[in-house]
Amino acid sequence: MRVPDSDLQTCVRLALQALLLVGKGASERGAILVASASDPSLSPARVEALDLVLATLGQQDLIDTIIERVLPDRQLGTKTRWLFRLAVQMLLRCRGGADLRRTEKSLRNVMPVEQLADLEILIGSVLTLDANQIWSSLIDPEKIALETHNPTWWVSYCYRLLGRSEGVKLLSAASRPRYIRINPLKNHGRTTLPSRAKPLETALAKVAHSLPVYAVQGSLSTFSEFFSEGIFQIQDLASFLAVKAADPAPGEDVLDICAAPGGKTAALAQLMKNQGRIVSVDYSTGRMRSWRREITRLGVKIAEPVICSVSDMAVTGTFDLIVIDPPCTGSGILDRHPSMKWHLTPESTERYSRLQQHFLNSSSRLLAPDGRILYCTCSLTVEENEYVVSEFLKSHPDFETRPVLREYGSPGLEGFTDCRRLWPHRDRTAGYFIARLQRLN
Ligand SMILES: C[S@@+](CC[C@H](N)C(=O)[O-])C[C@H]1O[C@@H](n2cnc3c(N)ncnc32)[C@H](O)[C@@H]1O
Repeated sequence: MRVPDSDLQTCVRLALQALLLVGKGASERGAILVASASDPSLSPARVEALDLVLATLGQQDLIDTIIERVLPDRQLGTKTRWLFRLAVQMLLRCRGGADLRRTEKSLRNVMPVEQLADLEILIGSVLTLDANQIWSSLIDPEKIALETHNPTWWVSYCYRLLGRSEGVKLLSAASRPRYIRINPLKNHGRTTLPSRAKPLETALAKVAHSLPVYAVQGSLSTFSEFFSEGIFQIQDLASFLAVKAADPAPGEDVLDICAAPGGKTAALAQLMKNQGRIVSVDYSTGRMRSWRREITRLGVKIAEPVICSVSDMAVTGTFDLIVIDPPCTGSGILDRHPSMKWHLTPESTERYSRLQQHFLNSSSRLLAPDGRILYCTCSLTVEENEYVVSEFLKSHPDFETRPVLREYGSPGLEGFTDCRRLWPHRDRTAGYFIARLQRLN
């Protein structure tokens, strides 16, 4: 369908506002919501603008390389830089002909007068771009970095994890499907679709007979009616499998550390059949607001929120199960959050690793003598996963790993074969690490 020129300009304007917010630390989707709420005239362009934002951030390295080559030594202000990045992204995806003329026209209309000359240079250069000129001077990891749009150090890191050939597959993996988990707590105890939703079955692919999880083929908007009723939750398969690996049982006392916005709390309550108790801890008031909304929508009756930091935990007790889903680099979910790629550094990996070790150590004192801990992250690095578990076991000889999810994913690295890894290119899920730690009584 042809988007009118005025809509394309609205889309660029909204994308620009959102990118400025992302530059200040907002998430891509959050930035689109905030920018469109502050200027309702931009609202109709939300879907297309998000697509443009994700594509611009996803290819930011190539785009910046082009801008640097075409306009060397320019001192670009923040807003101009984002506008130029948007312009290059739009030109790169142009199919020529009328599409190109519309794109050029829209860009000229949104560009400040003083940048118009540079815009014309950019247009001419992108349209006659010879990618070989960019690649030719690069060594292998740099070339793969620019081809797959990843930091060069991260390319080398993935080579070390999996070898070059599989590393490239990981770095160029297609975006994973969206998954939904059917919620029996609002569906008369069933994990199949309600009969009135049967027509939607064609848009869903069951992941495995024994799991209440489906991959969505197409737009999630088809499901909006059932979403508000709480019949399903949008949850990656890997995130659900992490909860399954914890094997929560009805009647247990569970501590859910770093719980917002509630994905794991709700899945725990489902497997516990809403019997027992879940104490959900998170320090973010805003994210706990989302937690409350989700818990109510999904009919969870056994969870209580505690807003506090793990470093200063206002919780006492001895829990049968502690689930720890700490903040991480998110290197397993870069397909949906491309801006995080450009903040991923060896230093940030180390920083998160230290924080995760601290969370695991300080939570473990709240575990019952024969209790278990489920530790998971959506990161691919060894530092945030096997290394955290290894350090914990060294200082806690009363714990052992236990095998989990043998029928899914792959064994952990560095000899941690009881643990499980899910890889985006092998499993079509978020990249995940899952470890179950049993306290020996
Ligand atoms: C990976 S997310 C958790 C996702 C959640 N478990 C779910 O499944 O929906 C990490 C969470 O850790 C929280 N967090 C970060 N630092 C924290 C701290 N010091 N104390 C408590 N929560 C913290 C963040 O607010 C964020 O909600």
